[in-house]
Amino acid sequence: MNKFIIAGNWKMNTTITDGVEIAKNIALNVDQIANLKSKIIICPPFTHIYSIFKEVCKSKISVGAQNCYFEQKGAFTGEISVDMLKAVECQYIIVGHSERRLYFKESNSDINKKIKAILTNKLNTILCIGETLEQRKNGTTFDVLKKQLDECLADISEEEIKNIVIAYEPVWAIGTGVSASINEVKEAHDWMRSYFEKKYPNAGKDIYLLYGGSLNDKNAPEILAVENVNGGLIGGAALVPEKFLSIIDTAEKLSV
Ligand code: 13P
Repeated sequence: MNKFIIAGNWKMNTTITDGVEIAKNIALNVDQIANLKSKIIICPPFTHIYSIFKEVCKSKISVGAQNCYFEQKGAFTGEISVDMLKAVECQYIIVGHSERRLYFKESNSDINKKIKAILTNKLNTILCIGETLEQRKNGTTFDVLKKQLDECLADISEEEIKNIVIAYEPVWAIGTGVSASINEVKEAHDWMRSYFEKKYPNAGKDIYLLYGGSLNDKNAPEILAVENVNGGLIGGAALVPEKFLSIIDTAEKLSV
């Protein structure tokens, strides 16, 4: 079992040419780490996935997607199914990112259907949850997180949860350059751990709980050292190989 998962969410960034170069650079450097202890995932735009897979498939990097649709096929113009992602060698799929909830009106029930489609295809899910600034200010953070987890994970068994990674991403910390404080990270991750230990008595203690939201090469040593933080989901810094590699290096140092 890896101590940390370090995942890059590239969002809607890079041309395919630039993306392949970034992925090659990361893979080349990661492959030089003897005895790699972390799981490294990059989630580029859909159009880049297969080209990047072909570049990195012999490396220690896994490739993921940023979204999927829950139906298998049919008249759903513009959507991409889990089967299609599996066919281009995706191993992980991010669902429930706050940008999808906000701009594309995704509900917890949509996300639950996506997770079930991912499980059916035996791929891994990275489920994002997190409160807005308004919710944090009015003291409802943990009610929001509980509702998101209860509804997104409705009818997910103890066996199935082993294929799901959780990413706590406070919406107010995403892309702002200001991460949650260490105390806020610790409080949320301790809360999630106890939620999962109660809900899944056997699997709960081992579920990966990633932090996301302005995680970078500078704050990674402090954030990844927090108990119950099992890695990071990284946006901006994942597009800069030196920064992403520095976060990986931090995770490796903390893994010994
Ligand atoms: P930033 O690291 O750019 O804040 O983005 C975080 C995120 O949304 C990852 O999914």
